[in-house]
Amino acid sequence: MKSKILVTGGAGYIGSHTVVELQNNGYEVIIVDNLSNSSINVLDGITSITGIKPAFEKVDCCDKKALENVFEKYHGIKAIIHFAASKAVGESVEKPLLYYKNNLISLLNILELMGEQDAPNLVFSSSCTVYGQPDTLPVTEDAEVKPAASPYGNTKQIAEEIIRDTIHANNSLKCIALRYFNPVGAHPSAAIGELPNGIPNNLIPFVTQTAIGIRERLRVFGNDYNTPDGSAIRDYIYVVDLAKAHVISVERLLNNKNKKGLEIFNLGTGTGLSVLEILKEFETATGVEVKKEIVGRREGDIEKVWADPALANKELGWKAETSTREMLKTAWAWEKSLATKK
Ligand code: UD1
Repeated sequence: MKSKILVTGGAGYIGSHTVVELQNNGYEVIIVDNLSNSSINVLDGITSITGIKPAFEKVDCCDKKALENVFEKYHGIKAIIHFAASKAVGESVEKPLLYYKNNLISLLNILELMGEQDAPNLVFSSSCTVYGQPDTLPVTEDAEVKPAASPYGNTKQIAEEIIRDTIHANNSLKCIALRYFNPVGAHPSAAIGELPNGIPNNLIPFVTQTAIGIRERLRVFGNDYNTPDGSAIRDYIYVVDLAKAHVISVERLLNNKNKKGLEIFNLGTGTGLSVLEILKEFETATGVEVKKEIVGRREGDIEKVWADPALANKELGWKAETSTREMLKTAWAWEKSLATKK
């Protein structure tokens, strides 16, 4: 058995896929999650895939004492992957304090405990949202960080700054911040996937719910962008490919291979697809038609963004490998498996 890894938010969408990859690579995983946006049943899904039930503690990362108890109970945690955070852009505009409190206090607690508990390695979930609308595409890690379009986006920018300052002051701490583009799809087993709470905000869960008949039609937010078909462009990356990058990052930290205290990597495919292109690809991949209507732009959306993943390709030796069609097939298989569970 390799090192013990603490995964905050490990019952969530990206977290659960990462736990699977960590366990498949021999790591002992301890999940902490307050289950505010996830279900305890995810643990069964993880166990059915890996044959190992991960240790689980229902803990809110804003509760430092409770987190401290986890470090003491599972003595010898060497690295933390910090996913636990609120992530709905629209909600963050309505409830900014909730977002600043939840996303930043949890990070402060983690950073303090890294020093206090001799767990000096952190992989942090960041987002391409820190770039806003980049001036040049594909966007590289050294692109300017623009004023955030939402409190959610701002928490990611501030979090990166807090980590940078903390590591500057204590150079025994190390961090890899991963800037995700748009993660989609589900594990090929369909045992875990994205579980939106209520009406999905994100595109793919809305598409699969429309395809299966839960939603009447997809609203395409805007067809007057400066893009070839007028709809907005994103870089959709398969969640399992993304999860694998976390295992590589943990290994890099544990083996002292990271070159600076804080390293930042884009995790994307390098290719942008428009909303209408993704829809068409989904219909081709699944043979299911998705009803849609074009509506106005969604507030806070940017026009187009896709990654330059060259740095992650070179330094991490990682590459997004799964085609859009394949990832959409897994998203559809997951939606169908949810329907049979009801
Ligand atoms: C947003 C955040 C991202 C965050 C992610 C997590 C920004 C700029 N991006 O991604 O950082 O990690 O949420 O929740 O803050 N769309 C429709 N109809 C729908 C839903 C979406 O047309 O019903 C369109 C959107 O307008 C967008 C694309 O689909 O062009 C992708 O949207 P979504 O899945 O919500 O992700 P982002 O907004 O890119």
